[in-house]
Amino acid sequence: MTHQYDFLVIGSGIAGLSYATKLARHFESNGEPVSIAVITKVQADETNTKYAQGGIAAVWSKEDSFDKHIDDTIDAGDGVNKRHIVEIVVREAPERIQELIDYGTRFDRHGNEYDLAREGGHSDHRILHFKDITGAEIERALLEEVQRHPSISIFTHFFAVDLITQHHLGETVYRYREDIRCFGAYVLNTRTGQVEKFLAKTTMLATGGIGNIYQSTTNPTIATGDGIAMAYRAKGICDNLEFIQFHPTSLYQPGKKPSFLISEAVRGFGGILKNADGSTFMENYDPRLSLAPRDITARAIDSEMKRNGTDHVYLDVRDADYDRFLEHFPNITQHCLDIGIDVRRDMIPVVPAQHYLCGGIRVNEWGQTNIHFLYAAGECSCTGLHGANRLASNSLLEAVVFGHRAYLGTIENLKDAYIPDNVPDWDDSGTTHPEEQVLVTEMTRELNSIMSNYVGIVRTNRRLRRAYERVELLYREHEQLYRESKVSVPISELRNMINVSYLVIKMAMSRRENVGLHYNLDNIKA
Ligand code: FAD
Ligand code: SIN
Repeated sequence: MTHQYDFLVIGSGIAGLSYATKLARHFESNGEPVSIAVITKVQADETNTKYAQGGIAAVWSKEDSFDKHIDDTIDAGDGVNKRHIVEIVVREAPERIQELIDYGTRFDRHGNEYDLAREGGHSDHRILHFKDITGAEIERALLEEVQRHPSISIFTHFFAVDLITQHHLGETVYRYREDIRCFGAYVLNTRTGQVEKFLAKTTMLATGGIGNIYQSTTNPTIATGDGIAMAYRAKGICDNLEFIQFHPTSLYQPGKKPSFLISEAVRGFGGILKNADGSTFMENYDPRLSLAPRDITARAIDSEMKRNGTDHVYLDVRDADYDRFLEHFPNITQHCLDIGIDVRRDMIPVVPAQHYLCGGIRVNEWGQTNIHFLYAAGECSCTGLHGANRLASNSLLEAVVFGHRAYLGTIENLKDAYIPDNVPDWDDSGTTHPEEQVLVTEMTRELNSIMSNYVGIVRTNRRLRRAYERVELLYREHEQLYRESKVSVPISELRNMINVSYLVIKMAMSRRENVGLHYNLDNIKA
């Protein structure tokens, strides 16, 4: 089956929906016909966006300033950030957030003023939030806004498998070829099992994170790095994948996937990190104590756990004003209570878990990748905003700013776009449904173990080398299985996770200095 749209948006989180609504508004308000397909691999709201707790950062109070937000972002990112991108994002933030409010997003207020929270690495209160379920509120408002636009069609349970480029027209496409073009994607309709062709003048990748390459992650199961892997296979360029952010405080519940997040805003509210005996330790690592940036805090916790031979530390909020705490963090309070932790009496056991990818598909300031008519925004992209470590609550912000900028870039470049009429159908002749699903399950387990044990918070050359060799072997085994099999979501996700893990390891191996989230013990010795 062939679908043809003006625009194909892969992903229905904050990045994809912001972009789609902007396009729809533009054409609808000019009275021009337009067709936009948004595809999403499960139900529309199952995204990293929905799980965001703390909020979205922006300079909103009179006491705060753009300069302070810019400095905090670059300080957290260890100077690896692209300064002009940081300036763009910070300065455009209030306007983009006002649009979210205009779409119907609610943020908590005290009287006429927004209640601005503070998180690690921020020198001022600047986090707009809706209780501790900010992402769910933004996702709700954006999905409702999408419903108001007849030009947008949402395809749920459609899984993008591969991007379509000149490669599918029989040409040789190599990575630094300058005229690679994207014409859409091959997409698996997961209800029928058929791969359908989605042709489009412009394609947007807004596929989110990669958390599930690790054993323990705060990301939902959809986060398997599909967009990054698809772009890389289509000869897209990726940057900074070694900068994997581990959130310092996920709830300690061994084996639970995804790990439940205890928002950084809890530390902004006064929560203090402690060892089991009630002693504090952050004073040994950073003068900002429990509100140090995430890379420093996660490493400090890792080091305390190794020193004490424990598998978690604690977050203590027992001295907080409970009524105010409950008002701001009803979701976290209830979740803790459900597993027998009463935050008034008990310290919360916490452990770092994979949370965010700072790198991704390289894009310019208009969200364009190196492949013509292919854009990327949100967590799957690398704009240069985050540098070597993302500042808390800057991710939703980046996604909404770049959803907008990519829309502007798309409109600007549209005149040269076309859809060729000779794109072949998906060819799966000679493949069969694999009988041994166990192979995929076991390979995924193995990959998770390799990445968690060898490519975690603290790395060494030997661990990285070992990870590289193991993942290469998995890659070869999986390629054979993939060639012989009818395409399915588990097989494709594993393929993508192997591709992305390979990139993470390669980039970690070539990074010779310790910066931000990349910390290799051998770099200290060298
Ligand atoms: P997502 O919201 O993850 O959306 C990805 C979309 O792509 C989904 O619709 C998915 O179905 C689709 N997709 C993926 N692959 C395919 C495929 N192959 N085919 C079809 N569709 C596909 N950031 C902040 O700034 N503030 C916070 O407070 C905050 N809290 C967080 C709390 C948690 C628990 C987590 C996990 C993250 C948090 N983050 C926070 C990070 C932030 O939520 C994400 O970085 C951001 O939401 C990513 O948005 P996105 O639009 O790029 O991707
Ligand atoms: C959190 O609430 O701690 C998550 C914030 C973020 O990831 O930016």
